[in-house]
Amino acid sequence: MTNETYNRFVERYQSGELPWADELPPPEVIDLVPTLSPGRALDLGCGYGRTAIYLALHGWTADGVDFVEQAVEEAARRAAAAGVADQTKFYAGSASTPQANDTSYDLAIDIGCMHSFSDELLIEYRDSLKRVLRSGATYLLFVHLRNESPEGRPHGIAKGHVETLFADGFSLDRVEHGTTQVEDRPPWESAWYWFKRN
Ligand SMILES: C[S@@+](CC[C@H](N)C(=O)[O-])C[C@H]1O[C@@H](n2cnc3c(N)ncnc32)[C@H](O)[C@@H]1O
Repeated sequence: MTNETYNRFVERYQSGELPWADELPPPEVIDLVPTLSPGRALDLGCGYGRTAIYLALHGWTADGVDFVEQAVEEAARRAAAAGVADQTKFYAGSASTPQANDTSYDLAIDIGCMHSFSDELLIEYRDSLKRVLRSGATYLLFVHLRNESPEGRPHGIAKGHVETLFADGFSLDRVEHGTTQVEDRPPWESAWYWFKRN
């Protein structure tokens, strides 16, 4: 994690301009839930916890990690309001090395978190996931593919890099390429990946 990335996210939360503040998770999460038996889930870069809370409402126990304190506090508040405080745990920390003593998660979901990691963090992240997911576990990932932000800053993960990174320890079930548009910015390429832990 670079301080610059951390500071940028803290500012985003302070400004309240959060395209991911919706109550419901994306349709890809909603469609996945009925295909799996409930178990233990890890929400990486959980933000306000919409994915972990949705899973908990569908019988899962879910842990959410995010490095922004304000995000995890709000996630815990929303989980309590939804009646799933007992089935969820949110904590402030790094998503590249989630402090999970558990090594048997059945599901990990990352929506828009790891695509801002350095190459070094990406390796750490992949190795952590290998450690905490049980064999056969599902890993759902959404990333922005490399593009330039309006400020000219490169953003997102290079095309093909996700496949290469997770060739170690994971099998790719499915990938869907698409585009993402936020506010009035020009759309950019993005992708969803469905992996299984080997
Ligand atoms: C685009 S937001 C999505 C939030 C959430 N996944 C959702 O879909 O509602 C990405 C989140 O990842 C978090 N994040 C980014 N880098 C992180 C890191 N190294 N460790 C923990 N959280 C991180 C940010 O604070 C932010 O909440």
